[in-house]
Amino acid sequence: MTVGNIILTGYMGSGKTSVSRSLERITGLKMLDTDARIEEQAGKSISRIFAEDGEEVFRDMETGLLENLIKEGFKGILSTGGGMPLRRENRILMSRLGTVFYLKASPETICARLLNDTTRPLLAGETKEGKLEKIKSMLEQRKAAYESGADHIVITDGLDIKDIASDIRSKVYME
Ligand code: S3P
Repeated sequence: MTVGNIILTGYMGSGKTSVSRSLERITGLKMLDTDARIEEQAGKSISRIFAEDGEEVFRDMETGLLENLIKEGFKGILSTGGGMPLRRENRILMSRLGTVFYLKASPETICARLLNDTTRPLLAGETKEGKLEKIKSMLEQRKAAYESGADHIVITDGLDIKDIASDIRSKVYME
């Protein structure tokens, strides 16, 4: 049985990386993380790209990466940065690449996961309460982009990574 490409989207801390790793094990596909690839290509961290070049430059890198993956005939699981679906162009590119799954988590779940994180420039320097408020308002602003860009919405709150991965696998095998 063959399985098509799996594209994971979702806010920071929604579990894209862990679910991708679990999917690698159960599908045999290899995963590519867009943030990691961009850091590799730029030779610096996402935080440094934001600080030195600005968010727009980072967003252009994301679009450029999706275009290249299409050209190269990418095969596998793509774990995307949390802002990837914000550009309509990116939503179209992702749907050309494979089946898009939006991993949806509540602001409280996300906040708990990102409480001690220092690698996300968009949430840097916030107190715990500040972080939760910012996550709530960003999720509200991004809701339409996440949902319209997805073939499937996967609610992840309280679920095991393994169960989320096998649910996703069953959907791509059925298509
Ligand atoms: C971002 C999410 C991050 C990273 C960058 C911006 C966002 O990726 O691309 O910090 O705009 O939501 P993760 O979702 O992998 O943390």
